[in-house]
Amino acid sequence: MTIADKTVLVTGANRGIGRALVEEALKRGAKRVYAGTRQPLAHPDGRVMPLILDVTSAPQTQAAAGSVESLDILINNAGLAFYDDLSDRAALEQHLAVNLYGPYGVIQAFLPLLTRSRGAIVNVLSDAALAALPIIPAYSISKAAAFSLTQSLRALLAGRGVRVHAVIAGPVDTDMSRDLDAPKASPESVARAIFDAVEKGEEDIFPDPASQTLAEGWRSSPGKALELRNAALIAAKALKA
Ligand SMILES: NC(=O)c1ccc[n+]([C@@H]2O[C@H](COP(=O)([O-])OP(=O)(O)OC[C@H]3O[C@@H](n4cnc5c(N)ncnc54)[C@H](OP(=O)(O)O)[C@@H]3O)[C@@H](O)[C@H]2O)c1
Repeated sequence: MTIADKTVLVTGANRGIGRALVEEALKRGAKRVYAGTRQPLAHPDGRVMPLILDVTSAPQTQAAAGSVESLDILINNAGLAFYDDLSDRAALEQHLAVNLYGPYGVIQAFLPLLTRSRGAIVNVLSDAALAALPIIPAYSISKAAAFSLTQSLRALLAGRGVRVHAVIAGPVDTDMSRDLDAPKASPESVARAIFDAVEKGEEDIFPDPASQTLAEGWRSSPGKALELRNAALIAAKALKA
């Protein structure tokens, strides 16, 4: 999979990692970049097509899918994080709405196009999906659930030729991590690492120095081995059918 001449859609494209992904896709020669945003966006590059897309809105998601003719790579980047302590159910529901049901709905809406192109889905997750960060527990739950969604879709869609990538990012220097006092990777370097890994076909992507310390351990872990063994159940079922 190369990015040149491909059509890419990025959600949450107006700032942070999403904006960097749009710029990196353009640099790599993408034919068209759909920039999903909640507010209207203007971009000087004629290859960028703005799409109004609040990922929690089913009507907007349907309208966006209806206005896109073909798609090779869907990047579910839009995300929400705020501090909580699990005492407020509404906080958990808000995180799940954006970080789990958001990508779920967008994937379902664009799946026919991605199946037709034998394309790729890239879900921007977090290392909090692997181990909860208890200062942001609702966010951690939503990213763990989105990781599970990613693993199941990876197995379910493999037979249709659609690849599903998980981005297990560590701290990145954006508005989201403004208050976090830790070394952070630049959004630009993270966007480059994400596209490098998609081009190489790496299914689990560790795009920054902090997350890279987990990469080798994760790939050789019992958890990853179990994921592969469980995925084989779907492949075996498909063979029998
Ligand atoms: N920054 C980090 O340290 C870090 C680490 C690991 C993973 N991540 C993940 O990376 C992704 C991008 O985060 P970021 O750091 O770039 O955060 P950010 O700077 O806060 O940007 C978040 C983006 O998501 C959009 N968004 C939020 N709710 C949305 C909704 N309901 N519908 C559509 N778009 C929505 C925002 O749009 P508006 O401008 O309209 O609010 C914004 O474009 C997220 O999935 C995040 O969880 C970030």
